[in-house]
Amino acid sequence: MVQLTLPKNSTIRVGKTWPRPEGAKDVRKVMVYRWNPDDGENPRVDTYFVDMDTCGPMVLDVLIKIKTEIDPTLTFRRSCREGICGSCAMNIDGINTLACIYGHDEIKGDIRIYPLPHMPVIKDLIPDLTLFYAQHASIMPWLETKTNRPQKEWKQSIDDRRKLDGLYECVMCACCSTSCPSYWWNGDRYLGPAALLHAYRWIIDSRDEATGERLDDLEDPFKLYRCHTIMNCAKTCPKGLNPAKAIQEIKKMMVERIV
Ligand code: SF4
Ligand code: SF4
Ligand code: FES
Repeated sequence: MVQLTLPKNSTIRVGKTWPRPEGAKDVRKVMVYRWNPDDGENPRVDTYFVDMDTCGPMVLDVLIKIKTEIDPTLTFRRSCREGICGSCAMNIDGINTLACIYGHDEIKGDIRIYPLPHMPVIKDLIPDLTLFYAQHASIMPWLETKTNRPQKEWKQSIDDRRKLDGLYECVMCACCSTSCPSYWWNGDRYLGPAALLHAYRWIIDSRDEATGERLDDLEDPFKLYRCHTIMNCAKTCPKGLNPAKAIQEIKKMMVERIV
């Protein structure tokens, strides 16, 4: 197995190498980014050896096994373990994805796990998503109506409901926004693919009555127009969604309402 090497000027240290499990036949090397805000040290990468014969199939199973059996200090988010809550998003083998639905057999060689890139880290694999959630809140992620509330429910035709397919499935994992170069460099002003996908989801909802207001709010040199169609977002989305297409549709609506 290859030894962990880091660039000479890297501020990330080579961390602790934990012992191999005794008697295990199928062992994989797992390298995990670690950072503790309380120890005053630079981040490090720890190396673990995991007995795959007693491990579940997903990368999240590997992390849970490490935390349960080897190193209880390892910190990461998870909840549903079926790709619904979006909380286990991290960078695995160079790809932003959900650890609970990413099989470790898809990874050739050693397993490398880092937090989502270009986000402040709270601890180990946990990014600080405060700005990401604030951006989501800023697009008014709810049905905004002006007419009186119907007695029973807001109705929608089957065709109009279908327009929300490919949008409502977003689990707000942040894999797309943290893979977007425009968001890396202008994340404080560019809303990023996840928030914009949600913006579009409400703009085209036939029941919503704030379309003009929503488009007005996005008419800004940074919020929307920093998307340069690089498509990293669509490539990485673990739910198979296409935020870049949603952004294009919003841009088209902006043009159509001018002409
Ligand atoms: S298509 Fe737009 S949102 Fe998606 S990665 Fe590229 S710049 Fe970012
Ligand atoms: S669009 Fe995909 S990658 Fe982006 S937040 Fe939603 S589910 Fe995650
Ligand atoms: S634990 Fe919920 S998406 Fe992975």
